[in-house]
Amino acid sequence: MLNFQYYAPTKVVFGKGTEGRVGELVKKEGCKKVLVHYGGQSAKKSGLLDRVFDSLKEAGIDYVSLGGVVPNPRLSKVYEGIELCRKEGVDFLLAVGGGSVIDSCKAIGYGLANECDVWDMYTGKEKAKGCAPVGVVLTIAAAGSEMSDSSVITNEDGWYKKALNTNYGRCRFAVMNPELTYTLPEYQTESGCTDIMMHTMERYFVAEDTMEITDGIAESLMRTVMKNAKILLDDPKNYNARAEIMWSGTLSHNDLTGCGTNGGDWATHLIEHELGGLFDVAHGAGLAAVWGSWARYVLDEKPERFASFAVNVMGVEDQGDAKKTALLGIEALEDFYRSIHMPTSIKELGISPTEEQIKEMAQKATVGGSYSLGMFKKLHAEDIEKIYRMAL
Ligand code: NZQ
Ligand code: ZN
Repeated sequence: MLNFQYYAPTKVVFGKGTEGRVGELVKKEGCKKVLVHYGGQSAKKSGLLDRVFDSLKEAGIDYVSLGGVVPNPRLSKVYEGIELCRKEGVDFLLAVGGGSVIDSCKAIGYGLANECDVWDMYTGKEKAKGCAPVGVVLTIAAAGSEMSDSSVITNEDGWYKKALNTNYGRCRFAVMNPELTYTLPEYQTESGCTDIMMHTMERYFVAEDTMEITDGIAESLMRTVMKNAKILLDDPKNYNARAEIMWSGTLSHNDLTGCGTNGGDWATHLIEHELGGLFDVAHGAGLAAVWGSWARYVLDEKPERFASFAVNVMGVEDQGDAKKTALLGIEALEDFYRSIHMPTSIKELGISPTEEQIKEMAQKATVGGSYSLGMFKKLHAEDIEKIYRMAL
């Protein structure tokens, strides 16, 4: 096991009706004016946005609002938000939505707290020195941005999708009412469950020795997500299942399951981000489409790790041969994805990248071939191209 530092400063307010407390939570932050940031239609249609406005008014908090954040959130909306906040004197950002809205809020926060162009921090050209405070009312269990250090933004100029990870980007609070996720379409619910699985798996598939406690938490989390993802197929308004998934989503990406290791592999995520950037696919579904190909490509580095996953998470019988057991585990996870109507190939995402686009994605993922992806096995541009081709 490796030494580690664990930092999870976000206050979590979890359960029914908790969105009514948002005014009180913002007030405690001691801010003057809030930007309420949201997505397309869902928060308006469900009446959530009005309930949030009412709670702010009751607490005597002044606010402005900005909607229109799209999945795979765009840099142009971030610039619009920064300009509005500067004009209005906003000093607190409230995201009402999922990963896309939260990430857009964090990006606005970076833009407000730093003098450089916000995109330069996402490309690594400039270092972030702070971020304006962000709070969340979560409406989809998926990305885990409510407690993660990450923000992922797509620049329409060239369709680059880049993540910025710093502790400045951790939210002050996250209001999480599982009932708010009842209105999610099945595809979004199950894409979210896939993303939650993957945040845990990215940290699970590491080459070094891990901690028993960390593995135990991760394995239990993944079994819980699979069980409840299936329940939600037939019973989307099952409160307990929604709550299990929502809390799992947060725990899967607040670094808890990375304690004692090097923080994870993350190649599957970076391979998917290029699909999201170029083809605008739902993030979780994109992960499901490429994971099996990644797994088969890297398996030989440490088949024992995949065998543990097969036995402890997927319930596969130990075959007495690590590689055989491992392959059954990979198949079992793909079967699970099919059972929740997730794709297990790029074709099933409804897209067919050309050879030229495969090369473009591999180049972008490795910043022109100058970086490798992943820790379990280091992947170079030519490896990444092969994985895309295997996943077609
Ligand atoms: O825009 P609206 O109308 O709200 O519709 C959204 C959107 O179309 C809808 N939705 C959200 N809550 C709903 C709802 N529909 C009905 N009822 C509700 N209660 O769901 C759709 C997807 O929303 P989005 O916010 O895009 O989903 P998600 O949370 O999966 O976020 C995905 C984004 O997060 C990034 C992804 O790459 C992607 O850009 N990620 C962010 C991470 C982070 N910051 O830590 C980590 C992740 O690995 C991921 O990369
Ligand atoms: Zn993810």
